[in-house]
Amino acid sequence: MQHRTIIEPFRIKSVEPIGISTEAERVTQLAAAHYNPFLLRSKDVIIDLMTDSGTSAMSAHQWAGMMEGDEAYAGSRSWERMEEAVQELTGMQHVLPTHQGRAAERIIYGHLGGAGKVFISNTHFDTTRANIEFSGATAIDSPIAEGKDTALEHPFKGNMDVAALDHLLKEHKGHVGAVILTVTNNSGGGQPVSMANAEGVAAICKRHGALFLLDCCRIAENSWFVKHREEGMEGLSYRQIAQRMFALADGAVMSAKKDALVNMGGFLSLKDEALAAACTNLLILTEGFTTYGGVSGRDMEAIAIGLDEVFDPHYLDYRIRSTTWLGDKLHALGVPLMRPIGGHAVYIDAKKLYPHIPPHEYPGQALVCELYRLAGIRSVEIGSVMFGKYGEDGGLLPSTMELVRLAIPRRVYTQSHMEYVAETFEEVMRERSRTKGYRITKEPKFLRHFTAHFEPLT
Ligand code: F0G
Repeated sequence: MQHRTIIEPFRIKSVEPIGISTEAERVTQLAAAHYNPFLLRSKDVIIDLMTDSGTSAMSAHQWAGMMEGDEAYAGSRSWERMEEAVQELTGMQHVLPTHQGRAAERIIYGHLGGAGKVFISNTHFDTTRANIEFSGATAIDSPIAEGKDTALEHPFKGNMDVAALDHLLKEHKGHVGAVILTVTNNSGGGQPVSMANAEGVAAICKRHGALFLLDCCRIAENSWFVKHREEGMEGLSYRQIAQRMFALADGAVMSAKKDALVNMGGFLSLKDEALAAACTNLLILTEGFTTYGGVSGRDMEAIAIGLDEVFDPHYLDYRIRSTTWLGDKLHALGVPLMRPIGGHAVYIDAKKLYPHIPPHEYPGQALVCELYRLAGIRSVEIGSVMFGKYGEDGGLLPSTMELVRLAIPRRVYTQSHMEYVAETFEEVMRERSRTKGYRITKEPKFLRHFTAHFEPLT
């Protein structure tokens, strides 16, 4: 029998209570957090869909592995396991452990960047862009046109525009820091990148002598889409698909907090020895010695196990199909969404949901606050709060899209939690035309979405 119900392919062995609050309590908490969910306390959140990063539930096998963690400063056994797991997966000889993805980003982009340098990506994730810009370099996004149309159905909306890449590499000849393919494309809607696209990018990079890096934190999820959507790929295992993609690149940056199913960790892997040596110097300076790089032995052990578990076909099937299940439920309610549904999250098109709220009044922030008020759901705005810039006249240069992300932690929530989320959107839709925008009252220079303060407009 072919079941419609997607069961979680695991049993629950340990539970963590959720504090249930009232709407009146949440109204107070939201005001105290200056209408920025990053400033809410986790204990005041019922369903936390802010991120899928570092929020995974580890398996019994990973917890058991943690007891095996070797905390030696140098030559740790756990490091050997992690290094071997990464080498086997990426096919890259040089592996640098880091405490999370952005530490690897700071090292590699700090080294390759600097004033006058240019980086090109399908879409830079916010920390990627910030690290590049902090070095003085410029980050250019070059997604395919289809990726910008949220309603359009396309199997690989995360793809890079290879013709534009070719043009950009010619234009910035001699000044290119690296080309970065983010799989899946998080800021572009969690959309997958095809093998053909990765091959196209690799070929163009080779022709122009540009360094090609993968931001691979969701590579297993990306592999699921490649296997099920790309001709000629169905016969390969998920791991083989990932390995084939890694083989095309010169290096990879990974936040292990996603597809390595752990709460902390990351790495930078490289093929080139000289580049690895330069990065290793920076690693030792700020992260730690080469055999731990800021990650404890037990976490390296869990990473090695997680990198294996994540490619389990039953897990990946459940993971992608359950995210799609939530997306389809919202779609059926008429909620404007990024289509098709990506791997780790459902992205709502707040610009279409609230056409009466202009970008400078942050429609995404309005939805994020609604979800918290109505149900204690924490989500994140990926729009003009996150990516907006100010023009010379002080006016807002809005982001292309105004999205809100419901990111699903791995192996954490059950189907009833997701039903609760879907039900909340019935009310969001009823309140739609009455929902108002926000204004920013305080903001820092970089990554303003983390700490900005807002005020509701009346
Ligand atoms: N690259 C991508 C594509 C990411 O999604 C993230 C993190 C990073 C790099 C940085 O990794 O957090 O370990 O330093 N994304 C999280 C998110 C924060 O919520 O999407 P990190």
